[in-house]
Amino acid sequence: MTASELRQRFLDFFKEKGHAIIPSASLIPENDPSVLFTTAGMQPLVPYLQGQPHPMGKRIANVQKCLRTDDIDEVGDNRHLTFFEMLGNWSLGDYFKQEAIGWSFEFLTDTKWCGIDPLMLYVTVFEGDKDAPRDDDSIGIWQALFEVNGIAAEVGVAGKDEPAKGTHGPRVYPYPKAKNWWPGATAKGLCGPDTEMFYDTGRKHDPTFGKVCHPNCDCGRFVEIWNDVFMQFKRETDGGPLTSLPIKNVDTGMGLERMAAMLQGVETVFDTETFQVMFNALEELSGKKYASRGAERSFRIIADHLRAATFAIGDGAVPSNVQQGYVVRRLIRRAIREGRKIGIKGPFASRVASVVIGEFGSFYSELESKRAQIVSEMDKEEAKFEETLEKGLKELERMLKEGDVTGEKAFVLYSTYGFPLELTEELVRERGQSVNRSRFQAEFMKHQELSRTSAAGMFKGGLQDTSDECTRLHTATHLLHRALKNVLGEHVEQKGSNITRERLRFDFTHSAKVTKEQLKEVEDIVNDAIRRDLPVTYKIMDMDEAKKAGAIGLFEDRYAQVGGKINVYVVGDDKTDYFSKEICGGPHVGKTGELGSFKIQKEEACSAGIRRIKATVTGNLEQGTGNGS
Ligand code: ALA
Repeated sequence: MTASELRQRFLDFFKEKGHAIIPSASLIPENDPSVLFTTAGMQPLVPYLQGQPHPMGKRIANVQKCLRTDDIDEVGDNRHLTFFEMLGNWSLGDYFKQEAIGWSFEFLTDTKWCGIDPLMLYVTVFEGDKDAPRDDDSIGIWQALFEVNGIAAEVGVAGKDEPAKGTHGPRVYPYPKAKNWWPGATAKGLCGPDTEMFYDTGRKHDPTFGKVCHPNCDCGRFVEIWNDVFMQFKRETDGGPLTSLPIKNVDTGMGLERMAAMLQGVETVFDTETFQVMFNALEELSGKKYASRGAERSFRIIADHLRAATFAIGDGAVPSNVQQGYVVRRLIRRAIREGRKIGIKGPFASRVASVVIGEFGSFYSELESKRAQIVSEMDKEEAKFEETLEKGLKELERMLKEGDVTGEKAFVLYSTYGFPLELTEELVRERGQSVNRSRFQAEFMKHQELSRTSAAGMFKGGLQDTSDECTRLHTATHLLHRALKNVLGEHVEQKGSNITRERLRFDFTHSAKVTKEQLKEVEDIVNDAIRRDLPVTYKIMDMDEAKKAGAIGLFEDRYAQVGGKINVYVVGDDKTDYFSKEICGGPHVGKTGELGSFKIQKEEACSAGIRRIKATVTGNLEQGTGNGS
């Protein structure tokens, strides 16, 4: 089964079980300043997991593009990837453990779907602690399933340090929060116990990983293939107490690449057809074989990084020195350097990108429609790096001869030669030395304003944290959008929006500078809407209805294509004189009074014909009145 067949089969299976299939969200989170990229399928769905109704219903399935850079230095071994696809099915307050586990088992074992022998499956569950009890429900459900499939129930639950025996013995292994709680044992936000499914490859246990082999042993015998999370709690703060959510959700995640490798019976994700086509291109370019000595790691890094960069650019992240753009730059430049190592001469990044587009463009149509831009960004970035790579490497050699590569020197390499810090670190590490990161960062701060997310959390994963500040600013963005149309004209169209906890940023089409008077008028209109304390509500509509109803906002083609439903947020009374009506995924405040007061901090040109406004709100200082009129 190829990866694309697996993707389709998964979606077909859950469609049969009454799920609506939704398109993957962008790799770049909308209105979420806490992370740079979408790192898990659940991330774009957080508002719905928190209780906001999803326009497509309570049963959802999708494949989500994900990008994780925490383990970027590990890429090149036999399993780590930065970009990957995550298959998931979702119950938003609908079914719970019984159905979720039952369907996981059915999809994995039924010959109509994946046809895995149940004897090769092991599962893990949460063992319980003072926070939450052992997940006996899941244990019971799994045991019943194994029993009807000929694996005796009386073998029970594995005891502490009990080894996995192969065809006989326990199937269900309890572990503490560190293993069976998602997203992390103490992380704030939505969370809950999970049950993970493992495939027994039958490989011999490697005792260097421990005396006893069990599903969570790292020796490579067991491969994790699916995770069902029962998300029914929330923590307000890291390490804080658990509170129950109003609804019980299911969030599942199956890594497409890993599952495909397993079903194909190959050793690594890099042996699946997806990577093989990229390797073929690289073999042609380099004249070296993937399997040849010393080349394997470079091939893997190049394929992984350029695939990730292709998808990221396709979602609007172009190479730059900050935020997502910095990650893309780093991925491309690292790939180029590996390319030189295996002897590729001349530009090649866009060639590999074309292979990626060819492989994925039929499912991810955004790659096809952005093809020209992806190719040109890759070419530009490669040319820029080429210009300075040789010189930078010489400079680095000189620095190394002189002594330590200090943080200050690393900054020179970054600012003059375009070496991402991590590249310098890698080169320096190869020579047994290290770079002082905090000195580098101090230098960086001196030279330019680096936003908090890119400085501190540049490569961190994490989950969406829809703070109250962001929610208020998000509603303010709708008010601003409407007010700009009122003052400047209906030609004003949203071109981009970005929210941090501190401010909103809104890009829109308008050909002239917005005058002081106009800005004042916009501000007044927004503040008037806030003072009137208008209700914010939403309606579920299809695209045509929304257009007819006069909603503004981005009419996403992809939803239209799948005949999807969307949320339309209305500020004010929809029947009489609403203030704004806009297509949007939320979340928003309940009443505009919660915004306090609105102020435009800056108006400037963004690019040709596009202006940019940054604005803030104070929040309602008289908390709890909830009635400003
Ligand atoms: N959200 C869960 C994961 O990423 C399913 O593993």
